[in-house]
Amino acid sequence: MARYAQIIGWGMCVPDHVLTNDDLSRIVDTSDEWIRTRTGIRERRIVSGETETTSTLAVKAARAALEVANLSPQQLDAVIVATVTPDYPFPATACLVQDRLGAVRASAFDLNAGCSGFVYGLSIGSSLIVSGQADHVLVIGAETLSRITNWNDRDTCVLFGDGAGAVVLAASQTPGGVRATVLGADGSGGDLLILPAGGSRHPASRQTVDDGLHFIHMRGREVFRFATQIMAQAARQVAEQAGWTLDEVSLIIPHQANERVIQSSLGRLKLPPERVFSNLERYGNTSAASIPIALCEAVTEGRIHADDRLILVGFGAGLTWAAAAVQWGVPLPVQPLPWWRRLWRWLIYRGARWRSLALRALRWLAGLLSGPVQHNGWRARLSAWRERRRQASKEPVPPQAPSER
Ligand code: ACO
Repeated sequence: MARYAQIIGWGMCVPDHVLTNDDLSRIVDTSDEWIRTRTGIRERRIVSGETETTSTLAVKAARAALEVANLSPQQLDAVIVATVTPDYPFPATACLVQDRLGAVRASAFDLNAGCSGFVYGLSIGSSLIVSGQADHVLVIGAETLSRITNWNDRDTCVLFGDGAGAVVLAASQTPGGVRATVLGADGSGGDLLILPAGGSRHPASRQTVDDGLHFIHMRGREVFRFATQIMAQAARQVAEQAGWTLDEVSLIIPHQANERVIQSSLGRLKLPPERVFSNLERYGNTSAASIPIALCEAVTEGRIHADDRLILVGFGAGLTWAAAAVQWGVPLPVQPLPWWRRLWRWLIYRGARWRSLALRALRWLAGLLSGPVQHNGWRARLSAWRERRRQASKEPVPPQAPSER
């Protein structure tokens, strides 16, 4: 029987702190007027303090998506986090999210495809479902770009913001959901949008810090040209693969990078503006989070209805591009959960935290009992002693010297 990957839950989270264009004009030589006319951005959300990170935003978005889906984290088979700003190079941010949610049965991995990452994740998640390897997959796009932004560089610092968006994909026999995806890459443009240091090419050093190589470096005009060409092309291709005409598409949700990119690329598709969703002015470019955040807001604003045909399309660092054709399967609006189910969810998340703490404590205890080096632990020492005794019992008795008799 055919399997389909339906989106059954969605959620988003943005930091409380708002950074307006006027705020930025007090930091660098720019103005609200320049930023609005060149990008369409008015303000963006920025994380504050050390406690807000990519994983904390991702966990909040994921919980909201699981609540809409009315799914327990234990039912998840995979957690995919698309991000270019993980909490750490490793472990994967997806593993931190998996632990915080208590998604004990789920595999977890990060995916780096720049701003196209969420749609890449959607493609992989739906493939896991359609192939029968998973029944429920959580796909998250989460970023804290403010942490790799050079606040002295007016070319880039006006563009980016922080946030997270998530969807829950579920196996279904009802035709719909993610119907087709198009993924692409052109690594020859990798240097157009790059975080030069911190990897194996330029490991972190005093010099890389002094040279500002841990910040986003971008050649804006080239990226702009690439974006305007590729978005329309990818949207057309994915519609064709899904067997749709563009007239049948109810809403396009593009990556929110720049209003001019959206207008000029999707203008090529000759779609009326009301069929293109944009919330860029409030959040700026949140990279892999921008499409799922826009999807959530499109639902909240009543722009999506059951059976609607949507195209999600993005481009980003790599260079990469990705598009997904999604047939919306869930009747809207979704009824909120009764209070006791919310309470139950709260207890599940509390339980996940206690479980995580207990596992850490047990690991610590095991380390303590087995000594500083694992190989010299009590188990290893016991088996070495046994082995020595076995060998000794097998050894022939050495012949005694005549003088010893
Ligand atoms: N305020 C005031 N002036 C500025 C600012 C600013 N914030 N930034 C640049 N300028 C100046 C430049 O110095 C330049 O001055 P000059 O003519 O005296 O040299 C002038 O404005 C024009 O600069 P351009 O770079 O030509 O401006 P443009 O119209 O191309 O807009 C922008 C720049 C907004 C960056 C645009 O190129 C763009 O949006 N590119 C796409 C970027 C993008 O989408 N990146 C994200 C990719 S997704 C991901 O993976 C993260």
